[in-house]
Amino acid sequence: MTELLGGMKRTDMCGTLDLKDVDREVTLMGWVNRRRDLGSLIFIDLRDKTGIIQIVFNEEWDKDLFSRAGDLRNEFVIAVSGTVVKRSPEAVNDKLSTGCIEVKAKELKILSRAETPPFLVEDNTKVSDNVRLKYRYLDLRRPAMQKNIITRHRIAKVVRDFLYNNGFIEIETPMLTKSTPEGARDYLVPSRVQPGKFYALPQSPQLFKQLLMISGFDKYYQIVRCFRDEDLRADRQPEFTQIDIEMSFVDMDNVLDINEKLIAEVFKEILGIELSLPLTRMSYNEAMNRYGSDKPDVRFGLELVEISDVLKGSSFNAFKEAISSGGCIKAINAKGCAGLARKEIDGLAEVAKTYGAKGLLWVMYTQEGEVRSSLTKYLTSDEVNGILKTVSAEPGDLILIAAGEFEKTCDAMGHVRLELGNRLNLIDRDRYELLWIVDFPLLEWSEEENRYVAKHHPFTSPKDEDIPLLDTDPGKVRAKAYDMVLNGTELGGGSIRIHTREMQKKMFNVLGFSDEDAQNRFGFFLEAFKYGVPPHGGIAYGFDRMVMLLTGSESIRDVIAFPKTQNASCLMSEAPSEVDAKQLKELHVKLDI
Ligand code: AMO
Repeated sequence: MTELLGGMKRTDMCGTLDLKDVDREVTLMGWVNRRRDLGSLIFIDLRDKTGIIQIVFNEEWDKDLFSRAGDLRNEFVIAVSGTVVKRSPEAVNDKLSTGCIEVKAKELKILSRAETPPFLVEDNTKVSDNVRLKYRYLDLRRPAMQKNIITRHRIAKVVRDFLYNNGFIEIETPMLTKSTPEGARDYLVPSRVQPGKFYALPQSPQLFKQLLMISGFDKYYQIVRCFRDEDLRADRQPEFTQIDIEMSFVDMDNVLDINEKLIAEVFKEILGIELSLPLTRMSYNEAMNRYGSDKPDVRFGLELVEISDVLKGSSFNAFKEAISSGGCIKAINAKGCAGLARKEIDGLAEVAKTYGAKGLLWVMYTQEGEVRSSLTKYLTSDEVNGILKTVSAEPGDLILIAAGEFEKTCDAMGHVRLELGNRLNLIDRDRYELLWIVDFPLLEWSEEENRYVAKHHPFTSPKDEDIPLLDTDPGKVRAKAYDMVLNGTELGGGSIRIHTREMQKKMFNVLGFSDEDAQNRFGFFLEAFKYGVPPHGGIAYGFDRMVMLLTGSESIRDVIAFPKTQNASCLMSEAPSEVDAKQLKELHVKLDI
């Protein structure tokens, strides 16, 4: 026994003791969560990662010990020995898992003292996010955060065990590498020994995992850090973790099948929920048409309804244009919302505009059966009746309408739908709705670059039956790509890959890459295609997102031990920070700010 631990040896963890331990002599170590003085009694709540237990000091039992207990302050680290005793019925604390017992203290050692912390270490402590992040090590002491991080570890273990049992092996891939094809901005690392050259941190191990298939490893996985310099949101971090998977000699059904089993295992082990398999598969088109999203939250209705047919003869410009240019007119029947104030409708219109709609029109079918509308002047009564019928309107309903280009209009209405779902409290937060979105377009047109770009990435295989369209109508080609969606969040995405040089070349052509571009960016990868490539495919899950959803957290920051803020800084370590001129010189880097 060393002096370091006050000559004491820990026998138990605080939160694991219960009635069966009554009369045992125990030694516990942890943090003072709270001290209460009641005259001749002092109560200490002692906390470790397993929970809290009450320790009692009584002046009558030991005066010196009692007086030393009086010195204890929040967050002191102590070792305590004593006897576990049952609490009298009136002293039982239902809020603590150890609330039926307490420890009668016989010995106390202060292992380290603490200054008054900047906030109380407890779950509903009122403190700003910035202070939490600056003192992250204190924030992480809070039971809810401990639970999140421990659940994260447990999910990783379930995933590892499942994949191990199914023949996958974990292989690491480089962090200092070349730009990968996910299309976000790279984090770059300057090379000291090769002036003017840079590594890119991986946005994903995409190329390496495909190379591992070419190497014959057959089934690979990795729980791996990825880096993307993009705008941050509640479900995005600049460095995040993927569960990255790749398999050889598989088609799409094989990949989806093993993956839904993996997710079912996670749900069973972590939440005790049996998922019913196979999961629903919904085409991208259906998801956009019905929910206005390629990651639909199907926990509530308010589906989008196509009303172009009713309005095909309309003289209203926005409708005429939408129809003649091959766009769509979408409506949502906001059930029972006819009483919504104009200000609230304007708020919804703002949402629609933020996501690219030109405006949000409305038809109100009042409780009294009267019809009012922002469009009265422009619609015939047949058209109004047609709209009401198509969306199955009843008195008291509000119909919201947007018209324009298909994807933009669906997307805008999808966001209006989500906003309404939240405002009307239609989302059952205890439900988990998982589904696959399939048949994504292979390509999307980029106005900015004036060319097609890959919707997933340039190594995704087109669907066999759509290959001829690559020459005639590339925008119509569907991909062997799939996303797994959980409660409106994209949990993961992947594809069956192109595995022939000819098809890969063709894909680069369609994307407008010259042979030279392709060679510069992906030359090493294309070279490997000369030497025998097995058909292969895979997926990557956002691991942080998975943990966020399974722990019911609001943000992925709550499930990452040391996350970054909106502007990608770590408030605790103060990264990023300036560096010495000497370091920059060694790296051959000059600043131009
Ligand atoms: P993708 O780019 O779709 O695919 O990424 C896979 C999953 O990673 C998660 N994710 C993120 N999570 C947190 N912060 C971010 N900034 C972030 N970006 C992405 C999402 C997403 O579904 N190599 C391909 C996968 C493949 O084809 O196998 C890829 O990376 O949950």
